[in-house]
Amino acid sequence: MCGIIGVAGNTEAVSVLLDGLERLEYRGYDSAGVAVVSPDGNLQVKKCKGRLSVLREALSRQEPLSGTIGIGHTRWATHGEPSDVNAHPHVGQNGKIAVVHNGIIENYLEIKQSLIRKGISFVSDTDTEVIVQLLEYYYGKKSDLMDAVYAVLNRIKGAYAMGILCSDFPGQMIAAKKDAPLLIGYGTDGNYIASDVTALLAHTKTVTYMEDDEVAVMTPDQVQIFDRDGCLLEKEKQLIAWDISAAEKGGYAHFMLKEIMEQPEAVWKTISPRLANGEIVLEELAEDADFMRGISRIYLVACGSAYHVGVVGKYVLEKLLHIPAEACLASEFRYSEPVLGESSLVIVISQSGETLDSMAALREAKRKGSRVLSIVNVMGSSIARESDYVLYTWAGPEIAVATTKAYTTQMVLLLMLGLWMARQLNRIQEGEYRKLVGGLEQLPEKIKKVLGNLDLYQKAASRYFNHNSVFYIGRNLDYALGLEGSLKLKEISYIHSESYAAGELKHGTISLIEPGTLVVALASYEPLAEKMLSNIVEVTSRGAEVLAVATEKTEGLVNSQAAEVFVIPAVHPLLQPVLGVIPLQLFAYYIALNRGCDIDKPRNLAKSVTVE
Ligand code: M6R
Repeated sequence: MCGIIGVAGNTEAVSVLLDGLERLEYRGYDSAGVAVVSPDGNLQVKKCKGRLSVLREALSRQEPLSGTIGIGHTRWATHGEPSDVNAHPHVGQNGKIAVVHNGIIENYLEIKQSLIRKGISFVSDTDTEVIVQLLEYYYGKKSDLMDAVYAVLNRIKGAYAMGILCSDFPGQMIAAKKDAPLLIGYGTDGNYIASDVTALLAHTKTVTYMEDDEVAVMTPDQVQIFDRDGCLLEKEKQLIAWDISAAEKGGYAHFMLKEIMEQPEAVWKTISPRLANGEIVLEELAEDADFMRGISRIYLVACGSAYHVGVVGKYVLEKLLHIPAEACLASEFRYSEPVLGESSLVIVISQSGETLDSMAALREAKRKGSRVLSIVNVMGSSIARESDYVLYTWAGPEIAVATTKAYTTQMVLLLMLGLWMARQLNRIQEGEYRKLVGGLEQLPEKIKKVLGNLDLYQKAASRYFNHNSVFYIGRNLDYALGLEGSLKLKEISYIHSESYAAGELKHGTISLIEPGTLVVALASYEPLAEKMLSNIVEVTSRGAEVLAVATEKTEGLVNSQAAEVFVIPAVHPLLQPVLGVIPLQLFAYYIALNRGCDIDKPRNLAKSVTVE
């Protein structure tokens, strides 16, 4: 969603800001803007509705904005439509202070009305404008900028990550954070703030994650971070392992394709640090193995694709551990009064680690005394920091809105967690454990094999891209896979699609099947492949065209019924979805390509959803 970049540097800020905003584009936005302050205190702002190219174009048509201290923003409209005036940065009515803000100020109406009564006039419909107007108001009264900043932070309620410039202090930038991510980057040519580490990688890999209620004051040579009482803090710096090339397309037409093709390596990065002499080692959990032994119930909580990983997890964990496990949508979980206690384990799954619903579910679980283990990709993200245990997927930056490598690595990590716990609980036989660990080690090679058939998926996509409704059916782990396949298709190609447990079709949905309807039938879960065949026959006998995903072992069963079969290597049934998802990702990708869609930035979607 919204993105922030800020720089207190020694060179002109605008190009740094525009470059940073470009790297944040993937998060989804509908307007963008920058503000810079020159050494003599001239605060200049430019902001436009639309893509970054519109802002660049507008900037090229005017006198360059000059100054080495600046803030930039990509806005995803929440309060007020996408427009030039609602775009950030917002400036106070005296033109002294500019603010960019991510998050939502919940009590903005009350503050706005009280400021209007004091004669302050507002120009936008945003909640953010109250921050800057209030800041100027307090600054006018208190004559001390930092006092004014703290007064504002004490008055506003809600979530914020913000960057602030003031024309009276042209050499500095101020940042503040609560319940929305903000990092500080330490560069050789200046210091930075960003809502997302990808915006910093071109300048530095040395960062500090700001904590809630912290305020930072930054100049080109110095960063000072204060707590909520204004006391100076000593904060640890961290080194980001990601390389800038990981956040670039590297010759691929789209980030999504690049990230799909990176899966063998990404999966290996997830597995290899956690394998020692054929044994799964989860150092992150080792000290609490006792707690793990006492777990009576597991909840897997997440949104979107991460929730689909949770559905895989439910089947896998119940099978391996014989402990009841439930996959829950985070947005439902938090309001469903879940029965949680000290012996429940809540597993929160999130690529970004910033999804608001997942975060709220995590807090609800902790409030009720449960321990939270998160599976996260982005290091230092809010979910990672608030969890009792974190397992990082180490998939590298994922830029395309449609998740691919994060999904597969989350699944692999859940499998490893299940196996590790099964070992701790003595619930898995040595032979089965060995088979699964061996299977895990071979996954990257098998994924490469599936990726070797690009032309097959491409051909199928050019045959089916004109369909306007597609059904995905499967049983057990194939059902979980269908949920993901269907979401991938609809989010990037805008084709209507539904996913069903295959046995459920005849209880209603089968009435939608008519001659020519495309049904993607997943028959990769060997234990239930024969049952799937019956469901395939159910739809073909009503005229459906079936595209099947089968393994080398199940292919023979479905061949005669399917118009097309994507055949994948057969592995242990619990590992099969890791391979099964790949043809589905590529099928969706090539369909979207055929339809000329904006694959990396599908309409109405954001990479990390930080609103409820
Ligand atoms: O960052 P998260 O994993 O918490 O995000 C959850 C969902 O928003 C995400 O998986 C979404 O469904 C993707 N666009 C799917 O491709």
